[in-house]
Amino acid sequence: MRLSESATIAMAQKARSLKNDGKDVIALSLGEPDFDTPKHIKEAAKKALDSGFTKYTPIAGVAELREAICQKFLRENNLAYQNDQILVSTGAKQSINHLILSIVNEGDEVIIPTPYWVSYIEMVRMAGGRPIPIETEATNDFIPDISQFQSKINDKTKLILFSTPSNPTGTVYPKSLLEKLSALLQDYPNCFLISDEIYEHILYEGKHISTASIGNLFDKTITVNGMSKGFAMTGWRIGYMAGPLEIIQACTKLQGQVTSGANAIAQHASIAALNESLEPSKEMKNAFLQRRDYVVNRLNRLEGIQINPPKGAFYVFPDIAYYLHTKYKHWKIDNSNDLAMYLLEEALVSTVAGSPFGYPNGLRISYAASMQELEKAMDRIEAALRQLNK
Ligand SMILES: Cc1ncc(COP(=O)(O)O)c(C=O)c1O
Repeated sequence: MRLSESATIAMAQKARSLKNDGKDVIALSLGEPDFDTPKHIKEAAKKALDSGFTKYTPIAGVAELREAICQKFLRENNLAYQNDQILVSTGAKQSINHLILSIVNEGDEVIIPTPYWVSYIEMVRMAGGRPIPIETEATNDFIPDISQFQSKINDKTKLILFSTPSNPTGTVYPKSLLEKLSALLQDYPNCFLISDEIYEHILYEGKHISTASIGNLFDKTITVNGMSKGFAMTGWRIGYMAGPLEIIQACTKLQGQVTSGANAIAQHASIAALNESLEPSKEMKNAFLQRRDYVVNRLNRLEGIQINPPKGAFYVFPDIAYYLHTKYKHWKIDNSNDLAMYLLEEALVSTVAGSPFGYPNGLRISYAASMQELEKAMDRIEAALRQLNK
């Protein structure tokens, strides 16, 4: 199978290898909160371990966690799922992969607005499906128009897939677009929608809108979420999905054959995370907001950079077309890969080129790093971009 390596992970590995060579690399390439998991969640894990929760769990997840997830959906998202409509998995990445494998057959089409999260495309290909991208622009905050969905959707379309808030752009899909999607999907009964809401708690304006809560989308949407981003729990590997019963049952069957239930201790820690205070998540969000403003201001000062103000997540995704076809010393910058490599080796800052996100003129910069690191990184990026000549 011709599968591409995850570009974000590949860049992080290169940065690590330079670091191991003694270089002072600032890593702004990986999507990981720099905070530790809140204390009460870690305490719950310790308690679970001491209480002997060291055995296999039910495949779909421990009952108490599924209940906590249902309560969360009701309380925060106005979504009334039953416990058997929930499947807990080893990270949201696994949830999405289960869904794609369960829904998409050879030759089926999946509509994915660009820029997209890198793994969506490869997962669709692994299932034998055809990713059908919809192009968006930084100048329009990367929000697609309903006419673009209308022109791509057909009887072979099995899925529409996006993240809101988005990785890599921080774009949040407005309610008006979701309402139009709800109307459109009425005419395509075989087409489902995956709404990846993993960045829900890292939202800077307004209240998060769950796609499934709009119009008639509840029966057509599978909501994916997880603990990694909002609770600083990337290493715990807990994600979950909620949606129509027959889809959850199919994914549960699949999970039963590939990994069984997710890690028992991490599931118990997740119960505490969901049932207890969101205050630590809010504090992290506020820190990300301060960093977003800093990085956006610094980028806005640079000549030629076009940037959409990210409304959520912890990335900026500037359009760097202005810096293409430039030179410095032996460097020739013809695409965003060249620019990312130049910034890594010349400025010692790791970022990710736009191509794997389906937007070749973009560059993803994660601001999940300390303010000191961000200040140093932005100074270096600014100096490196200034020395590029046409
Ligand atoms: C949009 C998006 N979805 C899903 C994931 C996967 O999250 P998890 O750590 O729960 O597998 C990520 C992680 O980078 C992401 O950015």
